[in-house]
Amino acid sequence: MPDQPHSNVIQELLGELHASFAGVREGRVADYIPELAKACPDDFGIVIATSGGRIYEIGDTRKEFTIQSISKPFIYALALKMLSFDVMASKIDVEPSGEAFNAISLDPDSGKPRNPMINAGAIAASAQICDANPGGAVDLLLEYFAELAGRPLTINEAVYRSEKETGHRNRAIGHLLRNFNIIESDPEPALDLYFRQCAISVTCRDLAVMAATLACQGRNPFTGGQPLSYDITVRVLALMGTCGMYDFAGQWLHDVGIPAKSGVAGGVMAVIPGRLGIATYSPPLDGFGNSVRGVAVCRQLSAGVGLSLFNQYYQVDATIRRSYQGSQRKSRRWRSERELEILAPHRDEVRIIHVQGVLDFGGIEQLAAELVRLSGDVRILILDLAHVTECPMESSGLLDRQLCSLEDQGVEILLSRAGRLPLVSRAGWAITERIDAYEHLDSALEAAEELLLTWYAPAADADNGDDDDLADQGVLAALGADHRRILAEHLVRRSFMAGDFVIRRGDPGDELFLVRSGSFDIALDIKTGDGQSHSTRLATFGPGLCFGEIGFVAQTPRTADIIATRPGECWVLHRNAFDELSASHPDVVIALLKALTCDIGAKLSQTSVQLTLMEHY
Ligand code: DON
Repeated sequence: MPDQPHSNVIQELLGELHASFAGVREGRVADYIPELAKACPDDFGIVIATSGGRIYEIGDTRKEFTIQSISKPFIYALALKMLSFDVMASKIDVEPSGEAFNAISLDPDSGKPRNPMINAGAIAASAQICDANPGGAVDLLLEYFAELAGRPLTINEAVYRSEKETGHRNRAIGHLLRNFNIIESDPEPALDLYFRQCAISVTCRDLAVMAATLACQGRNPFTGGQPLSYDITVRVLALMGTCGMYDFAGQWLHDVGIPAKSGVAGGVMAVIPGRLGIATYSPPLDGFGNSVRGVAVCRQLSAGVGLSLFNQYYQVDATIRRSYQGSQRKSRRWRSERELEILAPHRDEVRIIHVQGVLDFGGIEQLAAELVRLSGDVRILILDLAHVTECPMESSGLLDRQLCSLEDQGVEILLSRAGRLPLVSRAGWAITERIDAYEHLDSALEAAEELLLTWYAPAADADNGDDDDLADQGVLAALGADHRRILAEHLVRRSFMAGDFVIRRGDPGDELFLVRSGSFDIALDIKTGDGQSHSTRLATFGPGLCFGEIGFVAQTPRTADIIATRPGECWVLHRNAFDELSASHPDVVIALLKALTCDIGAKLSQTSVQLTLMEHY
C-alpha cells in the first residue's frame, strides 16, 4: 500500500481537527475488560481514506488497539456471505434496539437479537460462522480481515484472554441464544470466536481502509480486492446507520448523518458511501461506550464540510458532457469533393453525445431526457462513453431499454469508447446484438459518414477505382486536360497490400502519391498524459486524394508513417520524374504546384476549423 504524505487543504483540516480536540479531557477509558484499562487516554489519531485510494492521517494513526465492536458489521457481512440473506434473517433482526451494546435485547417470542450491531446479534452471527466452518473459523476470519484492511492482522492474545476470563455477561447472552435455538449447538466456540474477533489488533489507518472498502461497495480501493459484494455492503451500511452507535444511534444519524461503528477500545469508523472512509482512535469513552473525541471529530467534520448523507448536493445535468451536431465534428478520413458535397446537407442528422461520470439512475434519466429533446432530428447517434466511470448493474437495464427503443424508432446507434465498461457485453442486454461499438470516436464518426454516403450517394457515384482518368484526382481537377496527359506520362502506378508501409517516418520526401483505390492511414505515435505512447491515426485518404505532398514540396524527410489499411493503388510521381518534367514542361509543373498549394491550404483550413470547434464543444 503506498504511503502518501499529502500536504494539502485536507491534511490541514485534519491537523486543525486534531488540534481542536486533543485537549478534551472528558470520558473514561474502558476497564470492564481489565486489559483495555492499560490504554493511554492521550492517544489520538484521525485518518481519512478515499475511494480514489488516497490516505490523509494525523496523530496516533499507526498505534495498534483492538477492534472490539467495529468487528460487528464485518462479521455480519461475512455471515451473509457464507450463509444467505434468508438464513441470517431467520437468526437476527435488523431493528435498532435503542439500548446499550451489551443489553440482552432479544425478541421475547422468537429470541432473535434485535440487530447484529449489539452483542447478542454479533454473538449470533459468530455462531453461524462457527457452525459453517467448525475448526477453521479463526483462520478464515483473519484472512477476511486482512483483505478488508489490505494487510495481515493478528489477535491481541492478552486482550482476548482478558475478555474470555471476564466476559460473563456475553457468556450469559450466548447461552440465552442457545436456549432460543438461535445458536443451535454448544455456544462456547461461538463465544470464543466472538472474543477473538473483538481482540483483532488494528491501527486507525487500518480502520479507515476498511471503511473505504465499505464506501466502495465492498472493493478495497487500495488493493483492488473485493472482500464483499455490493448488496451485502449496502445492508451493512444501513445497519451501521440505524444501529451502529447503539442507544445514541438516532441522535447520531440526526446530527452527523453518517453510517458509523464504534468500539470500546476507542475506535470509531464512519463511511461516506461512494466517497470516504473515516477512522478515529481515542480511548476515553462517553456513557454510550463511544469515543468522546471520535464523536466530536465526526460531528465537526460532518457539519464543517457537509458530509451528512442527507445533505447531498444536487447535480443538474452533469452526465451530458457535450452534445452537438454532426457538422461540428468530422472524421479524420479526408473526403473527396464529391463526398463532401453529398455529406454537407446531411451531417446534422448525426448527433454526438459524450456522457460522463456514473451512469446510475440519475445519469440515465439525464441521458434519456436529452434523447427525448432531440428525437425526430437524429438518424445516427454516436454515444461516446470514454468518460463514463461506472454503469451500475442495477440501473443498466434502463439504459439498455432506452437504447433499444431509440433503435426501434430507426435511429442508428454507434457506441464509441465503451471498452472500459462491460456495456457492450453485458449479459441480458438486448441492444448488444443490434448496435456496433467502436474503439475510437474517430472510427465511429467515420462509420456515421459512411452510413450517410450509403443512404444519400446516387448509385452512379460509387467509386470503384477502375477509372484511369486522372481528372478523378481531385487535386488535379484544376489542371487542363493537356497538362494532365503530360503529367500522366511521368507517373507510375504502384499497388499495396493491406498493412504495407507506403511511407516510413524519416524516409526522404521524394515521392508524391495520388490515391487511385484503397485506403491509406497516416499514423503517428502520440504521447498522452499518462506518459504512454499510442499509435494514433491523424488522417485517412481514399480515392481521388493525394498524400505525401508536404515532404515532396518542401524536400524534407517524412514525419509520420503511412500505411495501407485496405489493398489499393496509387499514382506515384518520383522526384526524378518531377525534375524531368520541370525541364521539359515547366508550365505543367507550375500548374501542379499551384494545385498542391490549394490542396494543402484546404487541408489546413479544415484542420483549423475542427480544432477551433473542439474548443467550443
Ligand atoms: O462485547 C464486548 O463487551 C466487547 N468485546 C465489545 C464491545 C464494544 O466494543 C462495544 N462498543 N462500543
